[in-house]
Amino acid sequence: MRVLSGIQPTGRFHWGNYFGAIRQYIDLQDADQAFYFIANLHALTTVREPQKLHELTFDAAIDLLALGLDPQRAVLFVQSDVPQVSELCWLLMTGAPLGLLERCHAYKDKKAKGVTADAGLFTYPVLMAADILAYDSDVVPVGQDQDQHIEVCRDLAQSFNHHFGPTFVLPKAKILDSSAKVPGIDGEKMSKSYNNTLEIFDDPRAQRKKIMRITTDSRPMEAPKEPETDHLYQLFSLVATDAERADMAALYRRGGFGYGEVKKALADAAERYFAAARARRAELEAHPDQVREVLAAGASRARTKAAEVLQRVQKACGLC
Ligand code: ADP
Ligand code: TRP
Repeated sequence: MRVLSGIQPTGRFHWGNYFGAIRQYIDLQDADQAFYFIANLHALTTVREPQKLHELTFDAAIDLLALGLDPQRAVLFVQSDVPQVSELCWLLMTGAPLGLLERCHAYKDKKAKGVTADAGLFTYPVLMAADILAYDSDVVPVGQDQDQHIEVCRDLAQSFNHHFGPTFVLPKAKILDSSAKVPGIDGEKMSKSYNNTLEIFDDPRAQRKKIMRITTDSRPMEAPKEPETDHLYQLFSLVATDAERADMAALYRRGGFGYGEVKKALADAAERYFAAARARRAELEAHPDQVREVLAAGASRARTKAAEVLQRVQKACGLC
């Protein structure tokens, strides 16, 4: 079984990305074969500064490795290092109905907001289909927001198979645990577009300052509070130990505490939770050649598989 997923390097990774996606990818790396890539071609639809895209792509690789992605077990690569995917994208595009793409949320939502769409944004789901089909992927772990794109991928693969004969493996989405929806410092869903993120590898002092700015309600200190519905508690529970979580929940229910002490406990727990990853990150940052080697080896394995699939597709449609 092959598991594959991609993550866009459109900003530094935040807690939402980690608990909502990255941690779950890492848990899946013991699958027969896990392929994970940094989707820089997709990011190009929004990040238009070359230096920034370059840095974010490399930072994403370091972050993933620091957080536990093990290149001995999973294949890690950069999307654009596999040119076969772009060719496959064209081949799929020739059979992609406009109506199908017009219905995709990513495009529809941006258009509704008045963003002038280019062909890259419009055909984004076709590139995503090529990413998936190029490696005969069986399972694609993604957030709920990407489910529609996996459906498009299945549609395109099915209609290609129908027209040209059995060529593509049909992938299945594995929707990531949505109970892991992480709130931001304002209590809304954490997202870089809301400017409410806690970045995983922020400098600990800057992170502590941000945590101190987390919005709280204005109920009196004495009042008992329900922990589960409070975003400060929700954030704490992500990084606390079981015992700390139970103690904090009891404190909320008892009342008579200040949010300042919860924030301090959160900052301490966060620093501890990410300490090992932070140390690994510093180590990797000091040895960028090792990271480049991992990406080169990953790209080489990914290209070998993609070339095999592309040849099958080219044959099926009469290109060779
Ligand atoms: P952003 O909303 O910051 O732009 P992305 O859309 O790039 O984040 O997120 C990539 C993946 O990270 C998503 O598909 C989703 O699985 C996960 N993710 C992002 N934010 C959250 C969150 N607040 N809670 C849970 N998962 C999240
Ligand atoms: N579009 C996905 C996202 O924004 C990233 C992505 C690109 C992807 N290609 C993919 C995910 C292929 C899974 C499979 O999160």
